[in-house]
Amino acid sequence: MTFMKNILITGGAGFIGSHVVRLFVTKYPQYRIVNADALTYAGNLENLTDIKDQPNYIFEKADICDTARITGLFENYNIDTVIHLAAESHVDRSISDPLAFVNTNIVGTATLLQAAKHAWKGQEEGKLFYHVSTDEVYGSLGDTGFFTEFTAYDPRSPYSASKAASDHLVRSFYHTYHLPVIISNCSNNYGPNHFPEKLIPLAINNILNKKPLPVYGKGENVRDWLYVIDHATAIDTILHSGKTGETFNIGGHNEWKNIDLIRLLCKLLDEKTGQEAGSSEKLITFVTDRAGHDLRYAIDSTKLQHELGWVPSVTFEEGLSKTIDWYLQNSSWLQHVTSGAYLDYYEKQYHESH
Ligand code: NAD
Ligand code: DAU
Repeated sequence: MTFMKNILITGGAGFIGSHVVRLFVTKYPQYRIVNADALTYAGNLENLTDIKDQPNYIFEKADICDTARITGLFENYNIDTVIHLAAESHVDRSISDPLAFVNTNIVGTATLLQAAKHAWKGQEEGKLFYHVSTDEVYGSLGDTGFFTEFTAYDPRSPYSASKAASDHLVRSFYHTYHLPVIISNCSNNYGPNHFPEKLIPLAINNILNKKPLPVYGKGENVRDWLYVIDHATAIDTILHSGKTGETFNIGGHNEWKNIDLIRLLCKLLDEKTGQEAGSSEKLITFVTDRAGHDLRYAIDSTKLQHELGWVPSVTFEEGLSKTIDWYLQNSSWLQHVTSGAYLDYYEKQYHESH
């Protein structure tokens, strides 16, 4: 069968990647989707059981730092489009192990760029390297203002510094080698399949297990939350309509102080599990702040909304309710990912024995 596009999606077994893979596999049967993922602690093929047998889907266990393996994928599948999501993604892990982030996020991105440059040399027409990045490259905001596509980069954690470096590499390949690229920088995602090292799924898991809810510092830090499926549809929109060489900010104008968000989660979970009102809030525990903790992120996505017409599909209340329902209905997924290595990570991060 001949496909209209042969798309390599990296990191497709992770949280956001699995939603992007599902959207493209189901919406575009005329595209072949090759999911290349190293299956680190964050990669989980259980995220994709519903689409794994689709005729336009292929999984390849591959490390993006492995030049021979990545070059082979471009050749074997005649790859014409890359959606690059593979990364080390958790800020706290980047504080304890920065080199893993330098390796995957910087060396891995450079390896992919080289492979694309080599494969597409002289035939760049119709090709696209789409790099998925984060709003954290812009640094930390005070109480007011928003990140726009023109905000200067000011990364402050090893994670955000490695993502900023990867963005710079992507732009450098555009200017130097005319590699067709697009970058998008998105705010905090939440939704089904979110690994419970991140705030929202960690809180849901801990509430369900009646464990303390660790709130860093005073809980005053602000994040701008977007439902993961809305990030996937933004990527779809930008990939098909965005201009090569451009950057798009993605966000839903949905800022929450951590402590307010945790209180809302407690309330919703009390309601949904039939517990006495106020019982989950008692689990809130203020703990030592994250080193270099960015105060506030807030995305201005006017360009994406006005130029390409993208809008988020759900309100935060709807998205959070769907997310909690997913975790309540997928307790075996949660059990699988919170056994073994997760317990060791949790003990090291929160100094709590289990
Ligand atoms: P995740 O940690 O859930 O998933 C990362 C995936 O990459 C996993 O499947 C993992 O196995 C894979 N991976 C890691 N190292 C690899 C390597 N060397 N080779 C191949 N695969 C490897 O991450 P996520 O939250 O889904 O984030 C995906 C992307 O989106 C990242 O680039 C991240 O920086 C970006 N992003 C995330 C958010 C967010 O809120 N989670 C927001 C904006 C941007
Ligand atoms: O902004 C986009 C970024 O959002 C992505 O690029 C990252 O990959 C993603 O992990 C996320 O980074 P954050 O550091 O903002 O997300 P996290 O869920 O780790 O933390 C959200 C907020 O909650 C942050 O202010 C730290 C705080 N927090 C987090 C944890 C895990 C707590 O108070 N307690 C916790 O236990």
